[in-house]
Amino acid sequence: MRITDTADLWYKNAVIYCVDLETYLDSDGDGIGDLPGLTQRIDYLADIGVSCLWLMPFYPSPRRDNGYDISDMFGVDPRYGDHGDFVELVRVAHDRGIRVIVDLVINHTSDQHPWFRKSRASKETPYRDFYVWRSDTPPDTSEEAMFPGQEDGIWTYDEKTEEWYLHHFLHTQPDLNTANPQVREAITKTMGFWLQLGVDGFRVDAVPFAINQTTLSGADEHEFLEPHDYLRTLRAFLQRRSTGTSSAMILGEVNLPHEEQLAFFGGEDGDELTMQFDFTVNQKAFLSFAREDARPLAEALSERPQNLSTETQYANFLRNHDELTLDLLSAEQRDEVLDTFGPEQDMRFAGRGLRRRLPAMFDGDPRRIKMAYSLLFALPGTPVLFYGEEIGMGENLEVPGREAVRTPMQWSRDKNGGFSSARPSKLARKVVEGPFGPEHVNAAQARRDPDSLLHHIGRLARRYRDCPELGWGELRILEQPHQEVLAHRMTSGGQSMVLLHNLSPKSLVVPLRLDEQDQGSELIDLLQDGSCGIDAQQHTEVTLEGYGYRWLRMKRPGDPRLL
Ligand code: NOJ
Repeated sequence: MRITDTADLWYKNAVIYCVDLETYLDSDGDGIGDLPGLTQRIDYLADIGVSCLWLMPFYPSPRRDNGYDISDMFGVDPRYGDHGDFVELVRVAHDRGIRVIVDLVINHTSDQHPWFRKSRASKETPYRDFYVWRSDTPPDTSEEAMFPGQEDGIWTYDEKTEEWYLHHFLHTQPDLNTANPQVREAITKTMGFWLQLGVDGFRVDAVPFAINQTTLSGADEHEFLEPHDYLRTLRAFLQRRSTGTSSAMILGEVNLPHEEQLAFFGGEDGDELTMQFDFTVNQKAFLSFAREDARPLAEALSERPQNLSTETQYANFLRNHDELTLDLLSAEQRDEVLDTFGPEQDMRFAGRGLRRRLPAMFDGDPRRIKMAYSLLFALPGTPVLFYGEEIGMGENLEVPGREAVRTPMQWSRDKNGGFSSARPSKLARKVVEGPFGPEHVNAAQARRDPDSLLHHIGRLARRYRDCPELGWGELRILEQPHQEVLAHRMTSGGQSMVLLHNLSPKSLVVPLRLDEQDQGSELIDLLQDGSCGIDAQQHTEVTLEGYGYRWLRMKRPGDPRLL
């Protein structure tokens, strides 16, 4: 299976923006953000250069895990609006050239989902096999629980039928038995439904858990084939149902090392996930930030598999809605990052990550923050922003768990940061206080300040979108003498860019040796006025301020492009 040659692989140079509706903008004063609120802000997002909106779960849910515990996959939680509001949002977004993807949770449902209610009611119901049950006492699985503070293991005993059911996350999130063809069919039906309402793809939650055959029951009985067949089926279905030439995509959450991620792309065939978040690069970037040494990041980028099919793409991010997980680092590396960016215990999550946003970790240093976002957009792949990153929001550590970073969007310095007109006690979540609170950090003020992070990110987003080298190109790490500096070159269709990032506060001069065919070219700065000449020995020197960054495009003589 291949996407047709005419298909638009739009996600390969998209700018993705993730929104938690609950805390974005409350249009009706009930203290909860909603779909009409987000629709009002589509122009704000278009202005930044966002080209794809990712909506976190907005489905009916008891919200034990912020909506990742779904009780109706076809519904809209009435707190956010209804299907009409959803269609309005998609329509307005499309009108402004913004695509919409939604979370698809294939690994589990809420324990309140009708399937699970029926499944737990008796061993005989056809729904029993929708979930994973065992009759023998499970061993100690405390190491496997994803939320160790909240759960002792991954099996919970159910009184009614006297058996245990599987749940990798909370016990209120029973794992679906994805070996069961009926479950698979139900999931594809869900995809079909939202595609029909106009979405352009899905962010697929917890993918490795969903196809982890070792924990599934009845695998033999269903002649369960190779587990990756399930992903192939989802992808094939997506392709069949994508309309026109604009192919829908599936962006998977696969928090595994690069070599293990490869199988989730479908190897060289590229017939499974179209995109995956790059957790390795994310974690190594934070190790590099902590050490002010670009080498861990350079290594992580170099060891990315190179032989991916054209349709596939990595999604890069600095922070997301969860903890900054550091589980792919060694214990010593993890401690280094935790000690540097989370010196206090309440800044940490489950011993493996940080429940902070980036600006607070960087003590609000604007130069360092701007460098980090320049790096995000300069990495090979597609950048993903979490709402509020564009204005430099901080976290609220008083809010427990991972929700510390999911505080109300700070629109203005007005009451509740302009998020809602409700009484503060009615708000879905507490607003940030202190130096990162709305009096100091808000979108209205940032819009008026040409030097704001918001304008910086807008410039980066627009530049990224007109630099196909970044989303499509091949990477080469450039040799140079400073370990503090990441120097890389991106090349696509014969065009090249050189990108430099100084992770340290020291000002540095970076000597570079370019290729023979670069003789006679010039390096044009795409973010500020200026250019660097290349001498006859293909040498050039670039000065970087402390936390400085440069995006330089190779301009060959006669290059007709508008640079
Ligand atoms: C990953 C999501 O990002 C996280 O927020 C959620 O708790 C788990 N999957 C379970 O759905």
